Amino acid sequence: MVAKTRLLVPGTIRDRVLDRLKDAFDVVRIERADPALLARSEAASISGVAVSGGLGAAMIEHLPSLEIIASFGVGYDGVDVAAAAARGIAVTNTPDVLNDEVADTTIGLLLNTVRRLPQAEAWLREGRWVREGAFPLTPLSLRGRKAGIYGLGRIGMAIAERLKGFGVGIAYHTRRPREDVPFAYYPSLAELAEAVDILIAIVPKTAETHRTIDAHILRALGPNGVLINVGRGWTVDEGALAETLGDGVIAAAGLDVFYDEPNVPQALLDLPNVSLLPHVASASVATRDAMADLVADNLFAWFERGAALTPVPETPFVRKAGNDLESLR
Ligand code: DGY
Repeated sequence: MVAKTRLLVPGTIRDRVLDRLKDAFDVVRIERADPALLARSEAASISGVAVSGGLGAAMIEHLPSLEIIASFGVGYDGVDVAAAAARGIAVTNTPDVLNDEVADTTIGLLLNTVRRLPQAEAWLREGRWVREGAFPLTPLSLRGRKAGIYGLGRIGMAIAERLKGFGVGIAYHTRRPREDVPFAYYPSLAELAEAVDILIAIVPKTAETHRTIDAHILRALGPNGVLINVGRGWTVDEGALAETLGDGVIAAAGLDVFYDEPNVPQALLDLPNVSLLPHVASASVATRDAMADLVADNLFAWFERGAALTPVPETPFVRKAGNDLESLR
């Protein structure tokens, strides 16, 4: 009998990933990605990893036969890609299958923030409509606004497509202008913030995006300004945001992501003009199932056909010739 390829799953991952993998692979589970939890002899037999969350350089180094890391989520900032790339290990993420869900949630969060819909529902549920009458008119509206998208990748484009239907102007900032879009391009984030009154951040967590939305950018957005963040909390200086929201430097914010999840700064929780969600932009059963399937499909594609389906740009590797492609049969 040919031994099955061994995969490591550190920490928790959607059950669907495990269900898809369990017959074809020998799946080893450990509580978290910690080398101390996996004996050297066992570590040596691991060829692939499926992970939701973090996989650091020490864990990667602990796995001498590792060929592929299939990461759950479009953002793969939890995986030390540089360490993987240096060893020729492929890393995959789950792009595209979540674009529409995240874009839908972004629009919902924008409307919640501007029209205060969660507060209006609470007003009804608390009996205040009966006792006190109509919910106060919202000072803010989407009408007549211009939205700036910070990060016009695949999800940013899906957000822009939806925004078109709301009749708001659309502009964007990315490192380089895109030739395939009709939206106004601003070469810097500050210029974009100056030009719009809704700023929607959908950029990945990288060295270049760290706390780029700071007091300066928020001041540029202005007193009618609304910040929406559905990318990573890493991108926002949360202290400056709480201060500017409190002082009326900007009007409101809607956040699905935070710097130190699941911890949300008390200063933000205390503010009435911020709408907060617990990182749910892609969190429907259907979309998370599609993401789980893509994690599994990448592993099948790698071990059965020699190339991953959705490798990240830093690791465009194919499986090395000479590896035993028969081992699953
Ligand atoms: C992602 O896929 O990166 C989203 O943030 C959901 O986790």
